[in-house]
Amino acid sequence: MMRSDPRALQLNDQGQLKHFLTLDGLSKNILTEILDRAESFLSMGEQSVKKVPLLRGKTVVNLFFENSTRTRTTFELAAKRLSADVINLNIETSATSKGESLLDTLKNLEAMQSDMFIVRHSDSGAPHFIAEHCTPNVAIINAGDGRHAHPTQAMLDMLTIRRHKGQFEGLKVAVVGDILHSRVARSQLHALTTLGVEEVRFVGPKTLVPEYFAELGATICHDLRAGLDDVDVIVMLRLQKERMAGALLPSESEFYRLYGLTKESLAWAKPDAIVMHPGPINRGVEIASEVADGEQSVILNQVTNGIAVRMAVLSMAMSGQMQAQQQEGGE
Ligand code: NCD
Repeated sequence: MMRSDPRALQLNDQGQLKHFLTLDGLSKNILTEILDRAESFLSMGEQSVKKVPLLRGKTVVNLFFENSTRTRTTFELAAKRLSADVINLNIETSATSKGESLLDTLKNLEAMQSDMFIVRHSDSGAPHFIAEHCTPNVAIINAGDGRHAHPTQAMLDMLTIRRHKGQFEGLKVAVVGDILHSRVARSQLHALTTLGVEEVRFVGPKTLVPEYFAELGATICHDLRAGLDDVDVIVMLRLQKERMAGALLPSESEFYRLYGLTKESLAWAKPDAIVMHPGPINRGVEIASEVADGEQSVILNQVTNGIAVRMAVLSMAMSGQMQAQQQEGGE
């Protein structure tokens, strides 16, 4: 089947988001708009009444084909704070497991006049496929697909960096660990290069940090000390064993010894470097507890920022989708 370019598919005729599938190809202006909008929602989260009516009357369906707690709950909170009606579809217990095809399930949800699907799937490209072939009038938000992309995670990471460092220019960022299986690292690379950081280093063993990432603009580093030298931001990633086909590592303790972020290895970065992690964290495998809970850690700020970023993305995509439909209706 012919596949259109997700970069074009996610924009309407005015160049605004109508889906949110990938950061690849999105302009610095759009990324900055997401961050600025998220910033305004952040201050709202501190007030006693946390709701705005931007998605009032809209139905948002959380479609998670793969496990998640943080991402699913923060999407749910974001949609609720925008006043949408939210349905969480548990795929395990849905009709799909009674033999109904995914396409039929989606068509039924569309017939219930859903306006937005938030999709997580273990297959790369699944949200794009749904946007293109199944439900073109529903805004599709990618909540993580296979190894391909996790655009809202990368944008909440960008918000966290901007709030702590003020700007992107001149920053050196190290992403450490299992890059090979990480949709987060791929989306971060797009965001960081578009927003204009000085350097993105991908750090880890040869089996988990293949050289081809250099073609996408990352500096490849197989030594932790060199990788952390003089960096402003450290992003630690977990070993994503569920996506590993074979044994790519000698052992977890060996990995920790060579690439774990401990108090000692953290000292190789700039003294004011921040430590980030998308979660779930594995203490004593990629990060020491005292670092995860330490002063330089902003891991829980990332979670809070995730709600604001998701509110920004949902509201932008919904308005772009509505404009696209109005235009089609008027033609
Ligand atoms: C990430 C994911 O699902 O890709 N986690 C997340 O969204 N919070 C990273 C991971 O699973 O390691």
